[in-house]
Amino acid sequence: ETHAQDAGTVFDFKEVTAGIDRDHHVAEGYDADVLLRWGDKVFADSPDFDPANQTPEAQARQFGYNNDFVGYIPIDGSSEHGYLVVNHEYTNEHLMFPGIVTVKGGNPIASEGVATDDETAEGSQPTSTEAALTPTEPFELVIAPADQKRVDIEMAAHGGTIIEIRKENGKWQPVLDGGKNRRITSTTEMEVSGPAAGSDRLKTNADATGRKVFGTLNNCAGGVTPWNTYIMAEENFHGYFIGELPEGHREAENYERYGVPDASYEWGRFHDRFDLSKEPNEPNRFGWVVEVDVEDPNSTPKKRTALGRFKHEGAESIVAPDGRVVFYLGDDERFDYVYKFVTAGKFNPDDRAANMDLLDDGTLYVARFDEDGSVEWMPLTHGEGPLTAENGFESQADVLIETRRAADLLEATPMDRPEDIEPNGSNGRVYVMLTNNTKRKEANAANPRLENAFGHIVEIAEENGDFAATKGRWEILVKCGDPSIADVGATFSTETTENGWFGMPDNCAVDSDGRLWVSTDGNSPKATGRTDGLWAMDTEGSARGTSKLFYRVPVGAEMCGPRPTPDLSTFFVAVQHPADGGEDWEEFGRLSYYEDLSTRWPDFDDAMPTRPSVVAITKRGGGKIASS
Ligand code: FEO
Ligand code: CA
Ligand code: CA
Ligand code: CA
Repeated sequence: ETHAQDAGTVFDFKEVTAGIDRDHHVAEGYDADVLLRWGDKVFADSPDFDPANQTPEAQARQFGYNNDFVGYIPIDGSSEHGYLVVNHEYTNEHLMFPGIVTVKGGNPIASEGVATDDETAEGSQPTSTEAALTPTEPFELVIAPADQKRVDIEMAAHGGTIIEIRKENGKWQPVLDGGKNRRITSTTEMEVSGPAAGSDRLKTNADATGRKVFGTLNNCAGGVTPWNTYIMAEENFHGYFIGELPEGHREAENYERYGVPDASYEWGRFHDRFDLSKEPNEPNRFGWVVEVDVEDPNSTPKKRTALGRFKHEGAESIVAPDGRVVFYLGDDERFDYVYKFVTAGKFNPDDRAANMDLLDDGTLYVARFDEDGSVEWMPLTHGEGPLTAENGFESQADVLIETRRAADLLEATPMDRPEDIEPNGSNGRVYVMLTNNTKRKEANAANPRLENAFGHIVEIAEENGDFAATKGRWEILVKCGDPSIADVGATFSTETTENGWFGMPDNCAVDSDGRLWVSTDGNSPKATGRTDGLWAMDTEGSARGTSKLFYRVPVGAEMCGPRPTPDLSTFFVAVQHPADGGEDWEEFGRLSYYEDLSTRWPDFDDAMPTRPSVVAITKRGGGKIASS
């Protein structure tokens, strides 16, 4: 085998050592500065964060919880002054509210001993912390039922933040009197636009038009459009609904396909619209892509129904050679699909206003990845193929409201949880993060691993490098996991060090030099013996498949972002749910508000809970990240 001579890796930095501890870590020679934390002021007159006395009104003026997507919209092209746009995906009550957690069984703050299922005593049924103080006992955190105030704080902590930021003396600062600063929450009024607007299936007691929705939910990743609007993708909306549909209701099959209701939150006990028995159409008003005009803080965000309704991970975009704009969309659930949307109209770089409704008209496609390495993008267009009245689709609105069922009928390829997808304009390819799928029992070519615990990355080359093409080729860039364990079947390059491999790719970014960066969600003591982080991933030449750890998060956190400034001198990253140890409590404890052996990052202050935060990474002395 011969490689054309090439320069090897396109990244230049000293790799971070993978591991697990209470702090975050960035490559030597870089600073990682906390820019915005949960509860920080978004406006000059926002109240100070007082976590033990939080109110919904204060939260609605402060930075929200669980920052996921981070976008940077430059002001006049600047890499030192712009708007940061950040999604607040969801809330972790046990980490947010003091005094609401009781421990049932076990010993969650044990500092020694490692429990495994095997070691757990058979037949032991501990009923209280007092009763069972051995560290090997299983336990459960029991969260007190919500009251209205708590629910309203949760609702205000969801949504997004738009905030002006500026670099002064080498350090980024929020501009609290920035005229465009804005909090968007789960009560912000939004307009429904595109083909599903006004559908009877979207009408509720609060909105007889089917065109006006309050709020956005579970905004995971997102995007910034070529015309500099902010895209918030609604992901796991099913968790917010309780109750039962009325007998024989027409949405029963639709909701079953989306897992509605899931009752993860108690909002429906205080707000009728989240209770299916009272407001059966409300779930059809979520699961969309939301577009926000950051230039006008009074603008009404728009739910762009043309991009389909599913558990949208994100919506990153690129301008195709003919000027149409292509959005890549993942539906993050096991066995769900990869989509793209191609606008009917063309991007006008000289007239921003002319682009503002591009997302209302275009074609939504779903991907079929064939065994021969080809990919076909199949249009979800009413009247074509099976998408007809005989199958319950009376209109394009119906196709979009039930996007998943429409895609099922087209026999799209069931994937291993499609997360972020990013096009690379410099090589004409597209990177699809497939985070994992431990329930896979039957492989297909693009998802070749059974019980895929660590995920993989698929690379698509669109035909003739045209992102609007309806055909292309695909291959697997890397199968993730620990390459030193043969059974895992990971395929990182042999240049990848023991620190450089990862599992569970989630977010990604292609920077303005065409370099791929991958963020992870799900690395942990138990899964991989390391925390989540940000990895640099070579895609070209002999270095292809080489990965290197650049930054890692504190225990329990998920890594979101990165979002580089145009000149690559700053990478914004989001550290989501630090201390949420999940099942991996043995070593670091699984904490409630003030009671933890996990982490109190970033403040390390006994009066403060741990706080999800956005971090700005810069090189000491300035210059491009990961370049010499
Ligand atoms: Fe919210 Fe698909 O991760
Ligand atoms: Ca994600
Ligand atoms: Ca991304
Ligand atoms: Ca994820």
